[in-house]
Amino acid sequence: MAEELIPETPETPETLGDQDTVLDDADEASAGKPVKQRKNGLYVSVSDELAENMKSGWADTELRDLEPVAQAPYAADRRAALSARFPGDRLVIPAGGLKTRSNDTEYSFRPSTEYAYLTGDQTEDGVLVLEPAPGGDGHRATIYLTPRSNRENGEFWLDGRQGELWVGRRHSLAEAEQLLGLPAKDVRELAAALREATGPVRVVRGHDSSIEAALADKVTAERDDELRVYLSEARAVKDDFEVGELQKAVDSTVRGFEDVVRILDKAEATSERYIEGTFFLRARVEGNDIGYGSICAAGPHATTLHWVRNDGDVRPGDLLLLDAGVETHTLYTADVTRTLPINGRFDELQRKIYDAVYESQEAGIAAVKPGAKYRDFHDASQRVLAERLVEWGLLEGPVERVLELGLQRRWTLHGTGHMLGLDVHDCAAARTEAYVDGTLEPGMCLTVEPGLYFQADDLTVPEEYRGIGVRIEDDILVTEDGNRNLSAGLPRTSADVETWMAAVKQG
Ligand code: GLY
Ligand code: MN
Ligand code: MN
Repeated sequence: MAEELIPETPETPETLGDQDTVLDDADEASAGKPVKQRKNGLYVSVSDELAENMKSGWADTELRDLEPVAQAPYAADRRAALSARFPGDRLVIPAGGLKTRSNDTEYSFRPSTEYAYLTGDQTEDGVLVLEPAPGGDGHRATIYLTPRSNRENGEFWLDGRQGELWVGRRHSLAEAEQLLGLPAKDVRELAAALREATGPVRVVRGHDSSIEAALADKVTAERDDELRVYLSEARAVKDDFEVGELQKAVDSTVRGFEDVVRILDKAEATSERYIEGTFFLRARVEGNDIGYGSICAAGPHATTLHWVRNDGDVRPGDLLLLDAGVETHTLYTADVTRTLPINGRFDELQRKIYDAVYESQEAGIAAVKPGAKYRDFHDASQRVLAERLVEWGLLEGPVERVLELGLQRRWTLHGTGHMLGLDVHDCAAARTEAYVDGTLEPGMCLTVEPGLYFQADDLTVPEEYRGIGVRIEDDILVTEDGNRNLSAGLPRTSADVETWMAAVKQG
C-alpha cells in the first residue's frame, strides 16, 4: 500500500469510493479553493500551486491502430445470437464492480461471466447494452466504460479508488472501441440514460446494484430470469476460441500439478498451505488466477468434498487429494483432480479404492459422446462404484437394488460431473431439460469426476477404510465422434501415477 498520508480529521475518517465527493474536492481546485487529497480514509492538504502543477506536463499516450482482441469476433457472434432471441428488448449486461474486503481494500476483481462472454472485456463497472435498432432490425450494441482519468480536475491523482495514478492506466474509450469492436461510451452517463429509457428492458441481475436501481420500475424478475437462463444455456456448446482457452487452462494446470509433486518431499511442503501456494504460483504466473479455491486435502481431509481450509499437515503414507484449476487470462478455468500417494506408492487398500474409482471414471468417460444423454456418464460411473462396494461386502447386493435406492451414495456423495467453461460449474442457470435431462453435443465440455469417500467416523466400514478419500477428475470435450480428454497430460492409472511422480521428482 502507499505511504500513509497525514490525517487532518482523524476522528471522522472518510472512506474511499465516493467518487462524487472526491470530484467535489477536485472542483474546489478549479475554483481556486484549497484541495485535499483523500486516500486510505485520510486527508492531506494540497496547495493550489501543486494542484495546478499536476494538470500539465504529461505525454500523449493514446494508443492507435490497435488490433481487436482474439475473442472479439466470437463475442460478436454471441451478441448476434442474443439479439435474435430477444427482439425489441433493451438488454443490459453489467460487469459488476469492486467488492470491499475491508475498509478501503477490495477483493481482486473478476467481471461477471455474462459480460466477459459477450464482450471479451474485463473492466470493472463496465456495462454492455443492446438497444433495439430503429425499425425492429436487431440491436445496436454499446459498451459503457469508465474512461481515462481526467487530468484537468485532478481526478487521476486525487481519486484513490479510480484515479489512474493509483490503480493503473485504463483504455481510453477510443482504444476500447478498437480492441473490442464495439462503440464505447462513458459509463457515468448510463444510469441516467436508463432511467429515461422507454420500451421493454431486461437486465442480468446480481452484479451492479446502481444499474438495477435505475431499472427498478422497468424490469420484472421473470423476464430477467429468461435472459439469465438464455445466457447460461448459450454457453453449453463452446466455440473454437473457448476450446483453445480451456486447453490452455488445463495445460497450465498440468504444470501446476507437476510443481506440487516436485515439492512434495521437501520438508517445507509438509503442509496443505504450501501445496496451495505452490499451485497458486503457477496460476498467477501463467494465468489470471485459480478458477476456484484449490482443494489441497491430505489424509482424512480428502473426505471433505470442498476442503479449502487447507490448514492440515501432509504425512507420508497418506493420500493427497488435489483438486485445482488454473483460470486463463480470458477467464476460462480447468477443474482437475488427482489423488496422489504422498510417499509415491499406494498401499494395498489405497490402490484397491483408487483402482475402483479409476474404473468408474473410465466407464464414465466412455459414455461421453454426441447423442448420449447427459445422465449416461453419471449412471455408468455410479454402476461401477456400486459393483465394487457390493464386491467388498460394504453393501448388500444385488447391484440393481443398490442403484435403485442410491445406497452407494453414502460413499460416492456427489454427482459425477458438470459443465465447465468460464465458470467452474458452468451453465448453472440452465433449465433441467437443457442440462441434466439434455443430450450431449459436440463442443460441450464437462468434468468426469467420480469419487469414493470413507469418513473418519464412519462406523459402517472396516477401520482401515476410514479417512480414505479418492477422486479422479478430468475435463472432457465432446467431439463429433466421441470425446477428447483435455487433461490427458496427467496420468490416471495407479501405476502410471506412481511412475509419473517418480519421474517428476527426479527431473
Ligand atoms: N472443484 C469443484 C468441483 O470439482 O466441482
Ligand atoms: Mn474439481
Ligand atoms: Mn468439478
